[in-house]
Amino acid sequence: MIPMVNLKKQLEEIRGEILSGMAEVVESGQYVLGKKVDEFEHRAAEYLDAKHAIGVASGTDALYLALKALDIKAGDEVITTPFTFFATVEAILYIGAVPVLADIDPVTFNMDPEKAARRITKKTRAILPVHIFGHPADMGRIGGLAKEYGLKVIEDCAQAFGASINGKKTGAIGDAGCFSFYPSKNLGGIGDGGLVTVQDDETAARVRILRNHGSRGGYMHEALGYNSRLDELQAAALLVKLKRIEDYNAKRRHKAALYTKILSGSRSILCPPPGGDGVSYHSVFHQFTIRHPHRDNLRQKLQEAGISSMIYYPIPIHMQPALHFLGYKEGDFPEAEKAAREVLSLPICPEIADSDVEMIAAKIAESN
Ligand SMILES: Cc1ncc(COP(=O)(O)O)c(C=O)c1O
Repeated sequence: MIPMVNLKKQLEEIRGEILSGMAEVVESGQYVLGKKVDEFEHRAAEYLDAKHAIGVASGTDALYLALKALDIKAGDEVITTPFTFFATVEAILYIGAVPVLADIDPVTFNMDPEKAARRITKKTRAILPVHIFGHPADMGRIGGLAKEYGLKVIEDCAQAFGASINGKKTGAIGDAGCFSFYPSKNLGGIGDGGLVTVQDDETAARVRILRNHGSRGGYMHEALGYNSRLDELQAAALLVKLKRIEDYNAKRRHKAALYTKILSGSRSILCPPPGGDGVSYHSVFHQFTIRHPHRDNLRQKLQEAGISSMIYYPIPIHMQPALHFLGYKEGDFPEAEKAAREVLSLPICPEIADSDVEMIAAKIAESN
């Protein structure tokens, strides 16, 4: 089978460096919040052009701690998208805040700012766009709304490490950026990990305290916090991959361009990164996702030909059984529902051979 991602192949080139970085940690005897986390935070902040970067235990925790540090409270409304991974909404609910959904733009799969604007009420405190599949959301218009209504902007950058808008990296645009280092992400660890980026010193200090039992150290606790620290061993592995992230993302973009070239004109509907109005969106193609009128048939054919594919996401957030209590129903977000019926994500990663991409695209084009 051609896999969606090929982490074993990625490891071939970096195995030595990763193992020696991890050996350094083991030998150091400094296993929690040591030198590797410190170095990774500095390098990640530099790369993302963020003033602060704080390593945490996962992308979900990054979202939760960012919301908490920005003082989002129980009962506050947070506008987000119905077309995302469940964790985006879990984090809002952990706070006791109310996730208010706004339908997506059918081309980018990202939150439609016009629809978000219609969901603003007196209780709205924040907007939480997700740069889904590595395509940056329309941060210009979302930022405009935030300014007009005095809202915080928390970016879910779990799928978008290295993406940018007009050269500005996602995660350094809103009040906070939340990254996941789940192994299959563009920048992935060898286990769980996450990062919060912020520009504001006070918010950064709050995230740092919250991730470490509400303490700056010395067994003095200023707040009720959590145990949510990025692991030293993960930081060692992430440092090795961070050095290569530009190359990894460039390769993903190249594979996406190949798919696009072969599939344009076919029955599959491609979802190009948005552009125009002098705005340049730089996607990092965490996924290469097409729409197809006969998605399930196509998926079956690919499977028979030894090609993996995935449906991200088959059930929109408002239709998830765990979230029935939010009171949404089928038909509330037609674009997200249509996307859930039509989308198919194809294998994409820096390691996939061009010839495999060409073969997969040709197979899809011929199945029209
Ligand atoms: C959009 C999105 N948000 C949040 C998360 C949660 O990240 P994690 O799995 O590191 O907790 C993920 C990925 O898993 C994600 O894809």
